[in-house]
Amino acid sequence: MKTNNTTPKGYAVITGASSGIGAEFAKRLAKEGYPLVLVARREERLKKLAELLETECIVMAADLSDMKECERLVKGLLGKEIDVWINNAGFGYCGETLNIENQTELDMIDVNVKAVHLFTKLVLKGMVEKNKGYILNVASSAGLLPAGPYMSTYYATKAYVTSFTRGVAEELRRKHSDVYVGCLCPGPVDTEFNKVANVEFALKGISSSACANCAVTQMFKKKITIVPTFKMKAAVVAGRLIPAKLYIRIAAKQQRKKIYR
Ligand SMILES: NC(=O)c1ccc[n+]([C@@H]2O[C@H](COP(=O)([O-])OP(=O)(O)OC[C@H]3O[C@@H](n4cnc5c(N)ncnc54)[C@H](OP(=O)(O)O)[C@@H]3O)[C@@H](O)[C@H]2O)c1
Repeated sequence: MKTNNTTPKGYAVITGASSGIGAEFAKRLAKEGYPLVLVARREERLKKLAELLETECIVMAADLSDMKECERLVKGLLGKEIDVWINNAGFGYCGETLNIENQTELDMIDVNVKAVHLFTKLVLKGMVEKNKGYILNVASSAGLLPAGPYMSTYYATKAYVTSFTRGVAEELRRKHSDVYVGCLCPGPVDTEFNKVANVEFALKGISSSACANCAVTQMFKKKITIVPTFKMKAAVVAGRLIPAKLYIRIAAKQQRKKIYR
């Protein structure tokens, strides 16, 4: 473990740092001089990443589908100054809802929703007391659209994240808090997501570094809903202009082709 005693910054905690967007968040925040806490199940990967980074890194292996593990993680960080917390860990699964294992979906709800909810609340309390800090919840452009047939549970989990985050952000604004809570809503990003979700995107993905860099820049500007790339912003606006019923039918047709290809 390397230490950087000159930095006055508190820790940046990144969940899901073993891969994709999370690993790129770690690289960017290390460059900004934050000491890091790297969280995911694959400890070896986290350790390898930590070796590459020129900052102090604490590696904490945890399965965030288990709420006891989430609580253990927070307890393990008690007494540490936390400036940034990024709830990035998450996964999706593509298929007809009736054919997807219940356990897969329940784990998805635990990681994508319950862990994000729990961490946001636990961390926010301390940040509000100090009136400083950043919490970024990684949702998806899926969370800004009416529904996503054949990825129904994933879309629903991300809708929870965007709705919850934006609601809390408004509560903070109304009490003139300097604490930031925001959500990142990317479209396709080239990561291990597709492999895990058993899906192929119709649109070409952006790189995970482009996604994470855009998100960190916008987070420090305190933008509450972050949608990287103009193309995706336009797609989200178009999705809102089309009547929801029609949008869902079109989305179902496109998505179905992927599972019965
Ligand atoms: N890629 C996209 O197109 C895209 C688009 C919009 C939003 N997103 C969101 O971006 C976030 C990051 O995904 P990614 O694209 O970077 O995919 P990824 O490469 O598959 O990374 C997912 C990360 O989440 C961690 N994770 C998954 N389940 C976990 C669990 N039970 N406990 C702890 N950590 C867990 C994984 O670590 P371990 O496997 O080591 O535990 C991994 O580090 C997710 O929330 C995803 O929904 C992705």
